[in-house]
Amino acid sequence: MKNKPIGIFDSGVGGLTVVKQIFKRLPDEEIVYLGDTARVPYGTKSPETIKRFAVENADFLMRFKVKLIVVACNTVSSTSLDILREKFSIPIVGVIKPGAEKAVQITRNNKVGVIGTYATVRSKAYEKEIKHFSKDVEVASKACPLFVPLVEEGWLKEEITFSIVKKYLKPLMAKKIDTLILGCTHYPLLKSVISKAAGKEVKIVDSASSVADEVHNILMSFGALRKSAKTPRHRFFATDAVEHFARVGEKFLGAKISKAKRANYV
Ligand code: DGL
Repeated sequence: MKNKPIGIFDSGVGGLTVVKQIFKRLPDEEIVYLGDTARVPYGTKSPETIKRFAVENADFLMRFKVKLIVVACNTVSSTSLDILREKFSIPIVGVIKPGAEKAVQITRNNKVGVIGTYATVRSKAYEKEIKHFSKDVEVASKACPLFVPLVEEGWLKEEITFSIVKKYLKPLMAKKIDTLILGCTHYPLLKSVISKAAGKEVKIVDSASSVADEVHNILMSFGALRKSAKTPRHRFFATDAVEHFARVGEKFLGAKISKAKRANYV
């Protein structure tokens, strides 16, 4: 089990922000990453469709005998963890719980904001998870459907991006939140503009590093951390437009993606 890879998937390139943290925290591990670029975005789709995609993606990763799967997508984590855990016997790590826990730890006024896709906000997954950690925390959520295309287009610091971010955040700021969860794995790329629009008082929670910690803890508890003198070999797959995936993905990962391949099951 030890030397098997970790499987990670997202609807596209967003999950690479989680991979970046996993590389930092677990530099000896090998990963197999899958971006379902043929069917992105997931955030506007129904829970039934997202569940079906999630199971197909996990099935693909199982071909590589992965020892654990990270669902590096809030949209899938908020709708499909139950079905994935039912169908697959390896540990399945989502991104909601680590972000919710971190927000509860750092809020001072017990007012937390969550931004994400329509599907994530509609699921109320963050509200449920936050209530699990503390009954006193009030949660205000806002779907920000324009953020994913802005990020994919690479408009990370444009004036227009700032105006859009400000407009989406307005109702959350009116609720006097002091902590804001980036509830979509695309959003860390907009962190500086989101932070500027929210103001210095608001702490931004990006769950990627907490997810990497959780993966580390689970593997350690199973005695499944990789131990090999060989340099890890990472594999990247996309279900469509592989070159575009690799080019945009490098911005998310902050590193080169060489030899990305097409996953042919879609
Ligand atoms: N990266 C996905 C998430 O974390 C959002 C992108 C999509 O809508 O597919 O929710």
